[in-house]
Amino acid sequence: MLNTCLFPAAGYGTRFLPATKSLPKEMLPILTKPLIHYGVDEALEAGMRNMAFVTGRGKRALEDYFDISYELEHQIAGSKKEYLLTEIRELMSACSFSFTRQNEMKGLGHAIYSGKNLVGDEAFGVILADDLCINEDGAGVMSQMSAIYEKYRCSVVAVMEVNDESIQNYGVVAGKGIDGDLVMISDMIEKPEPAKAPTNLAIIGRYILTPDIFEVLSTTAPGKNGEIQITDALLKQAQNGMVLAYKFKGKRFDCGSVAGFVEATNYFYNLEKKC
Ligand code: UTP
Repeated sequence: MLNTCLFPAAGYGTRFLPATKSLPKEMLPILTKPLIHYGVDEALEAGMRNMAFVTGRGKRALEDYFDISYELEHQIAGSKKEYLLTEIRELMSACSFSFTRQNEMKGLGHAIYSGKNLVGDEAFGVILADDLCINEDGAGVMSQMSAIYEKYRCSVVAVMEVNDESIQNYGVVAGKGIDGDLVMISDMIEKPEPAKAPTNLAIIGRYILTPDIFEVLSTTAPGKNGEIQITDALLKQAQNGMVLAYKFKGKRFDCGSVAGFVEATNYFYNLEKKC
C-alpha cells in the first residue's frame, strides 16, 4: 500500500498571469473546489493518507487551505451555510499534510527531489494538480496506477495519446507493449519536435515512483530548458530496471492552460447538473 502522495506545486503558473501574481495556480477553482482539492481527493481514493506539498514563495494559500480557519468556522457554525465546509473538513480529518519549499525553479525533477524528506524511503505517488483527471466509470487514475504498482513493484507513469501538433508539450515514451494498457519503457524524450517523437504517447501529471528515484535525481544533470527533468531520471531507472507507462482510463484536463481550464469547468458544471 502506498502511503504518501507528493504534490509539486512550486511553478509560477505564468499562463494564468495576472491571476497567479498573488494566487497559486493550484488554488484556481473548478466550480467551488480548488484544483489542489481534486488532486488530494484522488490520492485519498488511492489509499494515500500523507499529503506532501512542494511549494514556493507566494504559495501560502495552499497551507492555509488545509488548515482550520477559526474565524470562518466560528462565523459559520450553526448557520445554513455550514454544510459548505463539510467536504474540506472531512478531507482534513482523513489526511495529514506536510509542506516544504523549492527555493529555485529548477524543473519538475528538482521539485520532486525537494520533497525527499517528506517522503522517506518508500514508493510514493506524484500528482500535478493542474492536470485534472476524472474517471466517471470507476477508480480514479492514481488508484488504477496503484494497482499496477502493487503487481509490478516499479515506477509507473500515466500516458495518453495526443496529436502530432501537441506532442512537443509533453514527455514522450516508447517501448514494448506488455499487457493491454501497459508499455515497458525503453526510451523517453522530453518535449520532442513532432518529427522526432518516437510515439504519440505523452506523459501526464501522474506518477508512482520507487524511492531510488531520489538517488538518480541527485546525479541527474539539467536537461531540456536547463531544468532537472523527471523524464531523464525515469529513463535511467528504466535502463537499470523497469519503468511502466500506463494508458489510464478516464479523462484528463490540462488546467495549466486557459483552454483546458475552461473545458474542465464546463465538464464539471454539466456533470454536477446531471446529479
Ligand atoms: P508547468 O510546466 O506547468 O509550469 O509545471 P508552471 O510554472 O506551473 O506554469 P506555466 O508554464 O508558467 O504557466 C508543471 C508542474 O510542475 C510543477 C508546477 O507547479 C506544475 O504543477 N513545477 C515545475 C514545480 O513544482 N517546480 C518547477 O521547478 C517546475
